Amino acid sequence: MRILLAPMEGVIDAPMRRLLTGIGGYDACVTEFLRLSDGELPARSYHKHCPELAQGSRTASGTPVILQLLGSDPELLAVSAQRAVKLGATAIDLNFGCPSRFVNRKAGGAALLREPPLMAQIVSSVRRALPGEIPVSAKMRLGYDTPDKAIDIALAVQEAGADFLTVHARTRADGYRAPARWEWLRPINEALKIPVIANGDINSVDDWRRCHETSGCRHVMLGRGALMQPDLARQLRAWHSGTEVKAMQWPDIRTLLPHLMTHYAPGTRGLCARLKQWLGLLRQRHGEAEVAFARIRSLRDMDSILTALAG
Ligand SMILES: Cc1cc2nc3c(=O)[nH]c(=O)nc-3n(C[C@H](O)[C@H](O)[C@H](O)COP(=O)(O)O)c2cc1C
Repeated sequence: MRILLAPMEGVIDAPMRRLLTGIGGYDACVTEFLRLSDGELPARSYHKHCPELAQGSRTASGTPVILQLLGSDPELLAVSAQRAVKLGATAIDLNFGCPSRFVNRKAGGAALLREPPLMAQIVSSVRRALPGEIPVSAKMRLGYDTPDKAIDIALAVQEAGADFLTVHARTRADGYRAPARWEWLRPINEALKIPVIANGDINSVDDWRRCHETSGCRHVMLGRGALMQPDLARQLRAWHSGTEVKAMQWPDIRTLLPHLMTHYAPGTRGLCARLKQWLGLLRQRHGEAEVAFARIRSLRDMDSILTALAG
């Protein structure tokens, strides 16, 4: 069983990857997407996006980091993947799932689900450009409007040379609405020889048990669930080995919030919003987080937020 931490733009950045992989249970994590639309990017963009490149592409706890690229130009993505590897990337993931209108207008992300031949061209072009020991993976949704072509698309990605495929069990039209359609993962998993990683709405051990039973998938990627319950990967790992670990409770989770802030460089902008966003997800699971959220909601500076959280 492999457990991956999902890419989440604006939420799971390098400090969050460090914190969550430090709690344990993850085999790998994926960066937020790096968008390539108007030509090659300078080295500093890669380092800013994935500071772990300077540490052998691993988080502080040693968990491998996979660099995710997004775009629609096979050649540009291939040379960019090569550049990323020269800078220290050890694995490349390709984004075929982002639903953002802005990204889709430029024909990136989920828009490519309407053009499976182009998706396949992107995967094979990146695969050919990289040494064999660098894994190339893809992350897709079930389709753009409907899941009808999901199996064909997944097969095309496999034929193009992907080493594994993550499937977010929703179409673009589904957005992020629950429930994820785990039943669609089974025919994909049965059709493919490469590992299929199940993703979408796996927020507890019980969710994973049901998703695993429904889909037959052995591997999982955790997104919002990883933020709602920061030790979820550790719990899944224990469940898989037939043991149980006591779930982390609010008094311990609460200390993670100020701890996360220590991983940011002084003067980093937007940290109050990030903290509120995380607390917004935590409150879906922990009643105490709801109370804390109400307390900090209108506060605007980090010192008063941290004082309120400590109280
Ligand atoms: C705020 C946000 C940002 C996301 N950013 C990315 C991204 O950069 N790349 C990507 O492949 N998926 C991205 N996703 C999708 C997640 O990786 C994941 O597929 C999705 O949230 C479903 O999993 P979940 O139900 O476990 O959260 C994002 C999702 C959210 C909610």
